[in-house]
Parts: sequence; C-alpha cells; structure tokens
Amino acid sequence: MNIVIINPTYNENENIKILVKEIGKVIHELEENNKSDTVIQLVVDDSSPDGTGETVKTLMKDSSYSFLRIIEGNKEGLGKAYVRGMKYAIESLHADVVIEMDADLQHDPKLIKTLIKYIYDGYDFVIASRYVSGGAYEKTWSKFRVLNSKIANIVSRGIAGLKTHDTTSGFRAIRSTILNKIDLENITSDGYAFQFELLYLAEKKHAKIKEFGFLFKDRKFGQSKISLNKQYILDILNFFFLAFKFRYLNSIKILKFGVVGLTGTIINLIIYHLVIKDVKIAFIAEAIGYELSLFFNFGFNHYWTFKSNEKPLKALIKYNGTSLISLIVTSTVTQITSLLFSKYKTNFLIPIPGIGVGFIVNYVLAKKFVWRQK
Ligand code: GDD
Ligand code: MN
Repeated sequence: MNIVIINPTYNENENIKILVKEIGKVIHELEENNKSDTVIQLVVDDSSPDGTGETVKTLMKDSSYSFLRIIEGNKEGLGKAYVRGMKYAIESLHADVVIEMDADLQHDPKLIKTLIKYIYDGYDFVIASRYVSGGAYEKTWSKFRVLNSKIANIVSRGIAGLKTHDTTSGFRAIRSTILNKIDLENITSDGYAFQFELLYLAEKKHAKIKEFGFLFKDRKFGQSKISLNKQYILDILNFFFLAFKFRYLNSIKILKFGVVGLTGTIINLIIYHLVIKDVKIAFIAEAIGYELSLFFNFGFNHYWTFKSNEKPLKALIKYNGTSLISLIVTSTVTQITSLLFSKYKTNFLIPIPGIGVGFIVNYVLAKKFVWRQK
C-alpha cells in the first residue's frame, strides 16, 4: 500500500524537526514489517512566517529523510490545507491510504502503526479518539478547549446524527477509495470544522469506521491556532450551521419519500378502484394497484429522494424484493380490512390501513437495504 502521512503546518518550526525524526523511525518499522508498504510524509505548509517550510526543505536534502515531501500555499485554514494535501497525495503520490496528523507532537507518531493495523483489518476510516474507552487528553488542556470539544461532539452526534464519538479528532487514517467517493472540492469548511464535515460525508458513503482510544498530549512548543479570535468564532458558527444542514438533509429525504409514497398511493387507489369491479377479490385488486405504483415509486425514489449512485437495475431488483414483502403485508392487511368491513368491500378507501403498514415496512427496507442509507 502507498501510505501518505499528511502534516499541515503553520508555525511549527521547533516541532517539525522532532516530528520528522520520529516519523522516520515509524516509517522504517512499517516498511520493514510489510515490504509492500511505501510511506511518504507530506508536509502542507502555508508559508509559515517562522520558517517551518525552509526547515523542511533543508531536511529534505538529507538522504535519510527521503520519505519527506512538502507542498506550500497561502494560509487559508486547516480544512483547505487538508484538501490540498489529500488531492496531492492521491493524484501525485498515488496514495491508497492518507493519514491526518497534527505536526505539533500532540499526536504520538507511534500510533500511526495502530491506524495502519486497523486499515489492514479492513476498516476504511480509522480514528484515534479521545472519547472512547482508553481515550484521554492531558490534564493541562484548558477548560475552554475541553468545553469546546465536548460541545462540538454533542452537536455533531445529537444534531447531525453522527455515530462516531470523537468527531473532531485530527488523527485519522482514511482509505482513498472513500475519499474518491467524496467531492473534496465541495467541502465548505476552511477551518477546524473540516474534520466533522469530512467524517459526516464518509459516514454517508458507508465507510467502515473504527475508533480506538488514545492520549491527546500537550503541546511542547509553539501555540495552538485555536483561540477566541474572529476566525475561530466563524468556525464555531459554521460548525452549528453544518450540523443543522446535515439534519435538514436527513429530514428532507423522509419528506420526499412521503411525497412519492403519497402520489404512488393515489395511483394505487385509482387502479384498485378500476380493477376491483372486474376481479372482485380485494387481495388481487390491491396487488395490481400496488405493483403498478411500485414502478412510479422506484423511479422517483432512486433519482429524486435518495439521488442514488447504486446501479438502477440492481436497485430495482432489490426494490422488487423488498416491495414484495411489503406487498404481502399490505395485501394481507387489506384482506383483513375487507373482511372486517365486508359491506364496504368495493369502497376505494379499504386499502388505506394496509397501505399504511406496508409503507412503513417499505421505507425501512428501502432505506436500509435498497439504497443503503443511514
Ligand atoms: N497548513 C496549515 N494551515 N496548517 C494549519 C493551519 C492552517 O491554516 N492551522 C493549523 N494548522 C496546523 C498546525 O500547525 C498543527 O500542525 C495542526 O494544524 C493542528 O493545529 P493546532 O493549532 O495545534 O490545533 P489544536 O491542537 O488546537 O486542535 C487539535 O484538536 C482539534 C479538536 O479539538 C487538532 O487536532 C484539530 O485537528 C482538532 O480538530
Ligand atoms: Mn495542536
């Protein structure tokens, strides 16, 4: 595997020398343990005024650091730096896996081996987490930062519905196959909310996610770029905005499914009404009404509700299967209804309870099984 460790830097001159050495040792071990692995360290420096970029370029002249690369740009925030780094890693360095990692030694380089181990175990997105068993931060982390981090996690889980426990961790390994499914250029966060936004998109793409506990250490040199400044406040606002946007995107899907279902139901009712006079048996009339409205529902749900990338034919076949289950449920309930109200057997409202129960069964199966969404 081609593994690219991305370290964004802004004023990390003192840390970067230590980091490159430490990562060098880890890379050596990784490549020894698995001869088919090639590991590159990619520094994404935003023209740090303290000369971080110059230091890296000096180190690169030393043949013992042949794994080291740098790309440079203007300061546009952590998110933008990662997007540039990931695109470069995939397009120019042919990365199979990219690792996100801070350059200030708060992330222990030895844990890169753990990240990679879980990738080898078959996970797509591995997260070193402060908030699962075994996870922690050093006591000196300020109350302000702890509170911020906790709120960010409550918001991203509670509002946006993420399953992960540390949604803002900056120490993660991600397979390129997942990143290729995500349009990195469309990521809106320039700053720290990037971690949350990328994770949300990965969860949407059904990435197999693994979290393991780790100790988030203190900074030894230099300063955190997170402090109560204008940029950070904008970042917090963006974070909340995104959380609500993601929530809204979820509920709009349910709404669309309902609209499609309702229109399909009207088609179903009309067909039932037309057919029952001739065939007389409610079970059969409803089966015909149901089958025809199924094609209508499928088309709109595939291209409109779920905007699915799944192959339409495969999804249609699956949808037929799940619909058969709900058809049986719907028709059975309708048959029972028609027996209970045998006087009104030909009334066009008879299938309503059946359709209601069938709709719920259909929605759950369609979402989880046909279009495989969360
Ligand atoms: N290129 C570039 N551009 N790098 C940046 C920028 C930028 O605009 N801003 C920060 N960095 C680099 C820093 O130099 C460091 O290597 C890394 O990104 C993390 O920045 P810190 O300023 O040290 O962040 P932190 O320790 O306060 O925040 C950590 O925890 C957050 C969650 O609480 C990071 O791991 C974040 O990624 C994480 O979201
Ligand atoms: Mn830091």
